[in-house]
Amino acid sequence: MSNFINVCKVEDVPIGGAKMIFADEVTYGIFNVAGEFFAIDDRCPHAGASLACGIIEGEVVRCRIHHWRFCIKTGTYLDEAKPRFNVRTYPVRIVGDDVQIEIDSDAVLLTDGI
Ligand code: FES
Repeated sequence: MSNFINVCKVEDVPIGGAKMIFADEVTYGIFNVAGEFFAIDDRCPHAGASLACGIIEGEVVRCRIHHWRFCIKTGTYLDEAKPRFNVRTYPVRIVGDDVQIEIDSDAVLLTDGI
């Protein structure tokens, strides 16, 4: 069953920007790549830093701590062919001026992270 939840407004995430969102004890990174929105697990698989707080270079986010790079669109870890370090992606849709992501749980409480 589809479970899309509102995570922020379109204007909250400018082109080339990102926002961390907490929902049901999970942090998601919401990214705006050239006007298209993407959602990935915010937690870097290396040591847990926020990817939304990373350095965004087009479709790539580079973790601020040890500089691992991930594709924002696919979640792929880009520095080596090690799929175990890929980050999960989530479907995103825009409804009016709301950004919604599809999550697994029935999370309803949201808190802005940054
Ligand atoms: S915590 Fe992200 S690369 Fe180390």
